[in-house]
Amino acid sequence: MSNGSFCRYNEFMDDKKSLLEQKPDYLVCTCFGVMYSDIVNEIASGADSFDALQETLFIGTGCSSCVAEVKAILHEEDAKKIKNR
Ligand code: FES
Repeated sequence: MSNGSFCRYNEFMDDKKSLLEQKPDYLVCTCFGVMYSDIVNEIASGADSFDALQETLFIGTGCSSCVAEVKAILHEEDAKKIKNR
């Protein structure tokens, strides 16, 4: 690899998030077909609790197997908000 290629790679990566920061969309609630992006968008729109997410997306009102994951996403998004203050 020439030094020029390495520099271009670094310039490319500076504009990109690391692979760990990227979170591909995935199905969180199979009962209601709620995707990770649906939950994140709802939180960004003002939903600030599990109950608020449940009211709008119905998550956790079926088999409840998604509850822990939804709460983890909510916690993660809250942490991002606090970090960005
Ligand atoms: S997977 Fe969310 S209620 Fe069943």
